[in-house]
Amino acid sequence: MSQQIRMLQSQRLQKIGAYLFADLDRKQDALKAKGVDVINLGVGDPDLPTPEHIIRALEDGARDPRSHRYPPYVGTTEFRRATAAWFQQRFGVTLDPDRQVLALIGSKEGLAHLPWAMLNPGEAALVPDPGYPVYRSATIMAEGEPVAVPLLADRLFLPDLDAIPPDVARRARLMFLNYPNNPTGATADMEFLAEAVAFAKRHDLVLVHDNAYSEITFDGYRAPSVLQVPGALDVAIELHSLSKTYNMTGWRIGFAVGNAEAVNALGMVKTNVDSGVFRAVQHAGVAALTGPQDIVKPALARYQARRDRLVSGLRAVGWKAPSPKATLYIWMPTPNGQSSVTFSADVLERTGVVITPGVGYGAHGDGFVRLSLTTPDDRLDEAVARIRRTYG
Ligand SMILES: Cc1ncc(COP(=O)(O)O)c(C=O)c1O
Repeated sequence: MSQQIRMLQSQRLQKIGAYLFADLDRKQDALKAKGVDVINLGVGDPDLPTPEHIIRALEDGARDPRSHRYPPYVGTTEFRRATAAWFQQRFGVTLDPDRQVLALIGSKEGLAHLPWAMLNPGEAALVPDPGYPVYRSATIMAEGEPVAVPLLADRLFLPDLDAIPPDVARRARLMFLNYPNNPTGATADMEFLAEAVAFAKRHDLVLVHDNAYSEITFDGYRAPSVLQVPGALDVAIELHSLSKTYNMTGWRIGFAVGNAEAVNALGMVKTNVDSGVFRAVQHAGVAALTGPQDIVKPALARYQARRDRLVSGLRAVGWKAPSPKATLYIWMPTPNGQSSVTFSADVLERTGVVITPGVGYGAHGDGFVRLSLTTPDDRLDEAVARIRRTYG
């Protein structure tokens, strides 16, 4: 980066640091320029189409003249009611659509704005490491201090809340958690979520649970909501996404639910930053949430079959790939303890397959790589074949 551009960037932005995947992107581009057929297992972006009835609802919504004007900041009444009804049906939790539900421009938008809503400069936010990078960068943008909480394999990637130093807990206003977890594929049971709620109450902080993968589960597993923990509404806000559930990453729609004050604070930021979600997209979101939910099943069966093929291919060359019961990712330790950057560069150079170095998700992600299941079946099979040929 040139000195001039660096000077134009705020200190806040500079603190976030360089894009860790930039080097991998460059290598990938160089291979493509040489004519290599690169297969990308790096991104978690469903390759399957959005269901037809949702697309039709968007068309209808686009023809409604109300859609051509500013939408309500907090989401349409129709969308917030549909969300509350879905939540009741899915988790058995009753929400007030007027006070405890907020439409988001994707869950990322809510995560990015929450620290602005709730953190004072210098206050700490506990962020999982490895973790979705937005928790950290959003905290820095709000001039808060991200404090990494390690997610370790021997604890099944659940944080050791008792190990958080009391002075850190005292300074913390927010704690981010995410189960089913990106990038580790780990899941949390109600017992752990109850522990997290108790921790938040004890330390008077807001628990932010990112549940973007709640519906992307396999082998009969059903992921819980933190709001199922009795008393969670006192301290918790949970973010959900329609992106992965209904193959709608490009549509930008999600929602926040939970503690009314937290939901209200996040909504206040939004009134100052954006003007809500395009009404036609919200109308399509209503179709998604109120329509038949078993449309998700074929996609899950597809991901599960890909997971099995990828895991068995990786194991066939002696790599220790676990088989996750949720999310779109395999989180695998690198062979022989190699650094994640070295190993992913080696795989890219020798096979043309892009995998993500775990260190991109935090220091504790080093020694792991992430492989995603959102590549079409034939390309995934080709990636497995190349890995087996090269490393077998
Ligand atoms: C853990 C996690 N949370 C949130 C998001 C953001 O999803 P969206 O903004 O599309 O709802 C993602 C996307 O990959 C994610 O992995």
